[in-house]
Amino acid sequence: MNAKKVIIDCDPGIDDALALMLALSSPELDVLGITIVSGNVSADKGVNNALKILKWMNRTDIPVYLGERLPLVREYVNAEDTHGEDGLGESGYESPDDLSYHTDAVSFLSQSLLNAASSGDFISIIALGPMTNIARLIQTCPESLCGLSELVSMGGNYKSHGNCSPVAEYNYWCDPHAARLVYEAFETNPLLSGKPIHMVGLDVTRKIVLTPNLLEYICQISPEVGEHIRRITRFYFDFHWKQEQVIGCVINDPLAIAYFIDRSLCHGFLTYTTVETEGLCMGQTIVDAFDFWKKKKNSIVLTHTDAFRFMCFFIGRICHKDSSQMEPVLRQIMEVRP
Ligand code: BDR
Ligand code: CA
Repeated sequence: MNAKKVIIDCDPGIDDALALMLALSSPELDVLGITIVSGNVSADKGVNNALKILKWMNRTDIPVYLGERLPLVREYVNAEDTHGEDGLGESGYESPDDLSYHTDAVSFLSQSLLNAASSGDFISIIALGPMTNIARLIQTCPESLCGLSELVSMGGNYKSHGNCSPVAEYNYWCDPHAARLVYEAFETNPLLSGKPIHMVGLDVTRKIVLTPNLLEYICQISPEVGEHIRRITRFYFDFHWKQEQVIGCVINDPLAIAYFIDRSLCHGFLTYTTVETEGLCMGQTIVDAFDFWKKKKNSIVLTHTDAFRFMCFFIGRICHKDSSQMEPVLRQIMEVRP
């Protein structure tokens, strides 16, 4: 199989951890590196968490790069209320002091893309956190964008309400100026023409709820994997109950990975999108679905997903099981008719 080359830009983060588990269990992906940005936790804690995940996945061959510590303009606000002070749900995994990481994620991104452009083997970026690293890449080395195949961004919301303000999703709210700059580049930069951003926002990710029953099932079929997930999601479960009266937790980031691999898991429409950077609506995605502004369409905004098919895909991959054999039990757990 010709695996697609990807760089995963993230802020681990509990659901980032699950997304990395999925990516590293998927033969369709060749993960060239993991770049870290401040988001759920500071970039320094995020690097540490990425290394912990690589350690338990036995994939310490994948390089980790420390990226931007602060948003472009606004003050930095973490999401430790959601992900715990350590970013992994107060799970107490030991710091992997024996493992090293690299600095300068933005240079790694630009160098990788420039090399890809000259070899013709393009690279995709899956962004699972605030887009500060991507914005800095665009500011400092726009010519490298000719090596980009696709950008998939978990962030934003179209018809769904926000998750950190009435109207804003966390990744875009945390660094709204970066998000706006990236969407603008996909409107105006000729190197990005015909390559819209795939926006995997709350309209689709809210449908992806890891319930206690699904977690129990994972623990039954794959105790070791289940134990990691149980350990990091306890805090996230509690947060979801207190904040939204959800039993279980919404796992946003793995959907972006799954969609990158299998496009039939979500669908949406091609449109122009921008991001509000100031005031009450800071971080809100403005989606011009009815083409009022006649702007160049810079995004595919996803609006529908099949949560059952996603769960079969996700659990099958991370537990290394044949998903077709899991379907009857998953139908029962998720109350989906055949
Ligand atoms: C996004 O924000 C973070 O809390 C999650 O990791 C996800 O990337 C959801 O709004
Ligand atoms: Ca994230």
